[in-house]
Amino acid sequence: MTKEDWEALRTLATSSMKNAYAPYSKFPVGAAALVDNGRMVSGCNVENASYGLTLCAECGLISSLISSGGGKLVAFTCVDISGNYLMPCGRCRQLLHEHGGAELQIMTDTGIKALSELLPWAFGPEEIERRLD
Ligand code: THU
Repeated sequence: MTKEDWEALRTLATSSMKNAYAPYSKFPVGAAALVDNGRMVSGCNVENASYGLTLCAECGLISSLISSGGGKLVAFTCVDISGNYLMPCGRCRQLLHEHGGAELQIMTDTGIKALSELLPWAFGPEEIERRLD
């Protein structure tokens, strides 16, 4: 990933953030990721009057990934209204792990981190496969 690649992800995340539906928190979020086949996917948060049903931007991104043909996420970024990087919440780290694995690269305020640093000792599909053997 070059600096330009990361900037392209930030630009896409920012454009998706502008479509966020966040009337309750007033905290629009956009997420974007590079897929291993070279395409990019994105998502924004979608809130609900029943607050707990809120879909994070990452949920939309994963849905978009799968509905547009799938693939493995290799690099991910998430931004707020000012374009500042956000850390994915705990649930979304698990979602990202399912489709990006421990090596997924994530841009943060303190540089690029592997998902394994954000979600150590993760439970993933390989745990299930191992036990079903
Ligand atoms: N949010 C995301 O979209 N992704 C995250 O990883 C953190 C939180 C959204 C959910 C809610 O709509 C708003 O940010 C405030 O929590």
